[in-house]
Amino acid sequence: MGFTIAIDGPAASGKGTLARKIAERYGFHHLDTGLTYRATAKALLDAGLPLDDETLAAEQADKVDLGALDRSVLAAHEIGEAASKVAVMPAVRRALVEAQRRFAIREPGVVLDGRDIGTVVCPGAELKLYVTASPGVRAGRRFEEIGKSGGNLSYDDVLDDIRRRDARDMGRVDSPLRPADDAHLLDTSEMSIEAAFRAAQILIDEAL
Ligand code: C5P
Repeated sequence: MGFTIAIDGPAASGKGTLARKIAERYGFHHLDTGLTYRATAKALLDAGLPLDDETLAAEQADKVDLGALDRSVLAAHEIGEAASKVAVMPAVRRALVEAQRRFAIREPGVVLDGRDIGTVVCPGAELKLYVTASPGVRAGRRFEEIGKSGGNLSYDDVLDDIRRRDARDMGRVDSPLRPADDAHLLDTSEMSIEAAFRAAQILIDEAL
């Protein structure tokens, strides 16, 4: 098994960008586990199936192909909302966590980012980061991204969504979002992604 880096944090905390930069710099495989929940939600939406039927949702989760996850197809805001609904169901999580753990044994190392990587998916990871930022800062970043891709949600709508998603992710019974006891906290509220990357690099180089 290679070196494992677990990165968790709430929506729009900057963890995805950080994970991609780390994977590129160290030549590690990267898995954005949020995409696996998004792919499950999209399959249900496309088939006109309900989002709250655990058996149906787990069937779709079983079929998710980690090699075919396309961020551009799964990025839509509504898919993120739907993903956080399917993510509360234990049978969905069981199926996706199993696939994520199979990915995590790749050599020479992996970076997984999500909500429960350090606590559930890879509790033995060599390095755990918990990336966070204030809801206002995260809503500002998401609002800018949505604006660039032509969307027209207001800042207040985006902030409401972020708060709702946080409540659902932190409040669920199975694998709630929380830092692992041995995670390093990185608050990016007043930190650029470059500065966060430099801080992460120091921790990785120490742990390697
Ligand atoms: O990170 P992203 O916004 O793509 O994730 C979408 C949703 O998937 C999250 O709001 C969360 O509910 C769920 N998720 C999860 N566990 C993970 C990754 C994502 O529950 N490891």
